[in-house]
Amino acid sequence: MRAIVINQEASMPEHVDKKMPELQEGQVMLNIRASSMNHRDVWITKGLYPGIVSGATMGSDGCGTWQGEDYVINPGLDWGLNQNFQDSRFRVLGVPDDGTFADYIAIDKKYLYLKPSHLTVTQAAALPLAGVTAYRALFSRAGLRQGEKVLVTGIGGGVALMAFQFALALGCTVVVTSGDAAKITKAMKMGAVGGYDYKDTNWTKDLVTDFGGVDVVIDGACGPGFSGLIRVCQPGGRIAFYGATAGQIGSVNPQQVFWKQLSILGSTMGSESDFGQMIDFVSKHHIVPVIDCVLPLDNYRDGFSRMAEGKQFGKIVFSH
Ligand SMILES: NC(=O)c1ccc[n+]([C@@H]2O[C@H](COP(=O)([O-])OP(=O)(O)OC[C@H]3O[C@@H](n4cnc5c(N)ncnc54)[C@H](OP(=O)(O)O)[C@@H]3O)[C@@H](O)[C@H]2O)c1
Repeated sequence: MRAIVINQEASMPEHVDKKMPELQEGQVMLNIRASSMNHRDVWITKGLYPGIVSGATMGSDGCGTWQGEDYVINPGLDWGLNQNFQDSRFRVLGVPDDGTFADYIAIDKKYLYLKPSHLTVTQAAALPLAGVTAYRALFSRAGLRQGEKVLVTGIGGGVALMAFQFALALGCTVVVTSGDAAKITKAMKMGAVGGYDYKDTNWTKDLVTDFGGVDVVIDGACGPGFSGLIRVCQPGGRIAFYGATAGQIGSVNPQQVFWKQLSILGSTMGSESDFGQMIDFVSKHHIVPVIDCVLPLDNYRDGFSRMAEGKQFGKIVFSH
């Protein structure tokens, strides 16, 4: 079967003809019809991700068919029973385990969820990893409530857009940041009430002037700009972050954190319960993931370059 595998540390994956997977107990053979990219795929090709195994099929997100029904895959393997944090065996589908950038995957049936009926296979393939990460950060960690003000940073990203859509669906007021004015314009058209360029040194001041600050921040960047996120929080605010695209957190003013009674919360993907709740939320609110582009799987290199250059607005999907 066709598969996109990582063969060498810090290199682009290769298109190979791979042996069909063998079914283990409890597994089913899913015929993958669409898959999608996450930033971790780019980190893997740069050698910046732990546990890279040569020859492993890449890809965490997928939607496929088994016995005539379409399913999405929960890519969070072996989370365990504790809802507060994952088990030491936890890992993300797609390196070291064989992932979704292939024609077939042998996957434990417990990770399959019926595709929400309002989504196409292509749209559903965009949902799993970004959806569960956004859901846990917003709801399980930051405890977002209807009517609160939310800042979602780096709105061009897959997780960021999903968090944005979920917060809007709950009836929250959402402001965004981006390094690209065109992405801010797109987010405003989707319902953001404000948008700021995170490269502009005055953006946090402007946000506070315009909206008086926010209750919840969802961030995937960290980096030197993190101190600005503390500045824009109102008293009692919660910052949930799930990524560090911009690197180490810069200096943080502790007085602002304790005086405003802020909570700074790390978040990673989500439990099986988070995943099931995310699917129910998406179905209830008829949320359709924002898709940047759909490429044939054979053109995967174009998807990797587009994400590495940060050109996308939403998910890059591969059609199989
Ligand atoms: N812990 C987890 O479970 C988990 C899950 C998913 C992702 N992640 C991590 O989260 C990050 C985003 O993942 P993704 O798949 O959503 O990536 P993506 O689709 O490639 O998006 C990259 C994001 O980085 C933003 N960005 C770049 N520099 C920024 C800065 N200085 N300030 C604010 N935003 C900045 C971009 O915003 P603009 O394009 O709008 O400028 C865009 O939102 C990655 O580091 C990824 O590894 C972690």
